[in-house]
Parts: sequence; structure tokens; C-alpha cells
Amino acid sequence: MATILALETSCDETAVAIVRDRTILSSVVSTQIDIHQRYGGIVPEVASRQHVLTLGTELDAALDKAGLDWDDIDGIAATSTPGLVGALMVGLTAGKTLAMVHNKPFLGVHHLEGHIYANYLAQPDLQPPYLCLLVSGGHTSLIGVSDCGNYKTLGQTRDDAAGEAFDKVARLLGLGYPGGPVIDRLAKDGNAKAFPLPEGNISLPEGGFHPYDSSFSGLKTAVLRLVEKLKAEGVDPLPVADLAASFQATVAKSLTKRAIHCALDHGFTTLAVGGGVAANSALRQHLQTAAEAHKLRVLFPPLSLCTDNAAMIACAAADHFNRGHRSTLGLSVQSRLDLTRVMELYGQPER
Ligand code: KG4
Ligand code: ZN
Repeated sequence: MATILALETSCDETAVAIVRDRTILSSVVSTQIDIHQRYGGIVPEVASRQHVLTLGTELDAALDKAGLDWDDIDGIAATSTPGLVGALMVGLTAGKTLAMVHNKPFLGVHHLEGHIYANYLAQPDLQPPYLCLLVSGGHTSLIGVSDCGNYKTLGQTRDDAAGEAFDKVARLLGLGYPGGPVIDRLAKDGNAKAFPLPEGNISLPEGGFHPYDSSFSGLKTAVLRLVEKLKAEGVDPLPVADLAASFQATVAKSLTKRAIHCALDHGFTTLAVGGGVAANSALRQHLQTAAEAHKLRVLFPPLSLCTDNAAMIACAAADHFNRGHRSTLGLSVQSRLDLTRVMELYGQPER
């Protein structure tokens, strides 16, 4: 059993958590959304400064809530990739310093591996192999999980990530940032069939469409053109709820179709979902219904573990820790690193 304290500062949430293997002992998350909302999106420099201001009190709170002190911690982890470089650097530097001061092993963690591991916190009996649909603000992919640190990308978006599409469509509808939660809320009062929208199929040179890859930038443009057309016709106010519901249902259907197809083709019987967009109610509904029809087990983390948090980072680090994986204190932040290269964060297992 490994008790890991983890820091997550890859984007606009400052988070610290303590996890014992797959059990959360404490999890503190402070969002900067209200600060970035003023600018209509994330300002990287503001995010880094905010992490510096918040991290110290969060560390105290995480230890306090867990009723632990440093002697009880087996290892310290921090997200090292992917994300905003300045923001990542705050958490990684703090994590490495704490490891040095308290003489503990240190582990850098891949943020997307963290999103996958949110599923183990919700469902501790989960074991690979399974398929994970990763849908966050920056990434959308179908990942075949065969073991801790062993991932294969089976499908991905060719342009915008699903969360990015939610954020861009919300912005063009004048709904502010972040787009996902507000579109989800408005869509509840809208008609999802009001406006047919393109799903974003990827054509193959030999004809037909790619079965698992998606595209969301055309969908975003289609919503933009539709809004322009409605405005030109003098429609006022805009039917925002119907637009939100139609857009959301198109994303949900596109992701569901590809995930189910991929799971069945590759013989996976379990489909886990991770990332901020996993909180979307239409996606949850569509996946649930389709998975039942095809006798697949579908798992969603609770909403608080879908969006960024440090518990998922600690959980991923605990699994690596138990296998003897350690990072060196020379580990640097990386704005991007393919998930399939995650083992590059660790040196040789300790003997
Ligand atoms: O995983 P996450 O917290 O951060 C990244 O790693 O990117 O995901 C943030 C993304 C944002 O694009 C946000 O709009 C989206 O997740 N999101 C949602 C919902 N809640 C958050 N998208 C759709 N429906 C939601 N309920
Ligand atoms: Zn994330």
C-alpha cells in the first residue's frame, strides 16, 4: 500500500490530494475559473501566479483533512505533462522540493494517465484490459489500456478536442468560459433535434470513413454559420437552449458511436470514460444506453473526479510507486508528451 501526496497545477485548477492506493484520504481543489472568466479564457501567466498563491494553504489543508503528517507519506507526485508550461512548473518544482526536503521518492505524472486513473478511485475493482474514452479540454482519444503505463491510441480527434469545441461554441453563443457546464445546463431545456448538425466524419483515401477518429472543428463552424443565418433572418433572441442541445447531442452521438465501435472491434468488455467532458449528461446518457445494448460495462468517475483534481494524479502515482517506478529530480515539465510515452517519466525500477 502506498500513501501518495500529489500536486496538480497543469491548467486552471490548483489541487492537492492524498491517496492510499485507490482510496482518497483528502482532496482539495481550488478553481481559478472566476479569475479567468474576466478574460474569456485562461491567461497562462495569471494561472501560474494563482498556483503559487494557493498551493501552500492547500498542502496544509490536504494533510490536515487526512489527519496525516509528512512521516505518513510514502511518495510525492506532481503532474509534469501535458499542460501550460508555467503552470506545470509551479507544481513540479514544489513537488520536487518537498520530496527533497522530506527525503521521499518523487514521481512525475502524465495528466491524461491521471484522468484514466480517476476511474480506479470510483471503481477500485477495475482491472485492464479496457478501453478508455479520454475527453478533456485539450484531448480527445480512445485509449486501449493493457497495464499501468501501457497505452495504445486507437482513435483520436483530427482537430479540436471535444472540450475545446464546447468552449468555442459557448463563446460564440456568448455564454462565457468554461463552455461545457453552461451548455450542459442550458441543453436540458432545449430540443436536441431542433438543428441537424454535421458529425465530423474523417474520410479515408480508400473510401468510407475512419471508424474511430473524429473532428469537431467543422461542427463548431456549422454552429457559427447557423447563428449567423438566424441573426440575418432577424431571429431574436437566439434559441440558445435548442442550439446548445443540438450541438451537445451531436458531440455525444459522435463520441458514443466511435467508442462503442472501437470497443467491439477490439474485444474490450469495459469502457471507462475520463476527462472534463465525461461530466456531460448527454454523453453519459448516450454511452450508458449504447453500452447496455451491446452488453458492455461502462464506467464514469463521479463529476468531481472528471474535471481536474489531484486525487487522480496521486492514484496513478501510487500504481507506479508500487511497481518501483521513480522519477529523477532532474525531470522537467513538457507542454506535450504522447500518453504512449508515459514510461519516459520514470527511470529504472528500484531493486
Ligand atoms: O479535464 P479538464 O478539467 O481539463 C483538461 O485537462 O483539459 O476538462 C476541461 C474541459 C473544458 O473544456 C470544459 O468545458 C469541459 O471539460 N467540461 C464539460 C463539462 N464540464 C466540463 N464539457 C461538457 N459538459 C460538461 N458538463
Ligand atoms: Zn484535465
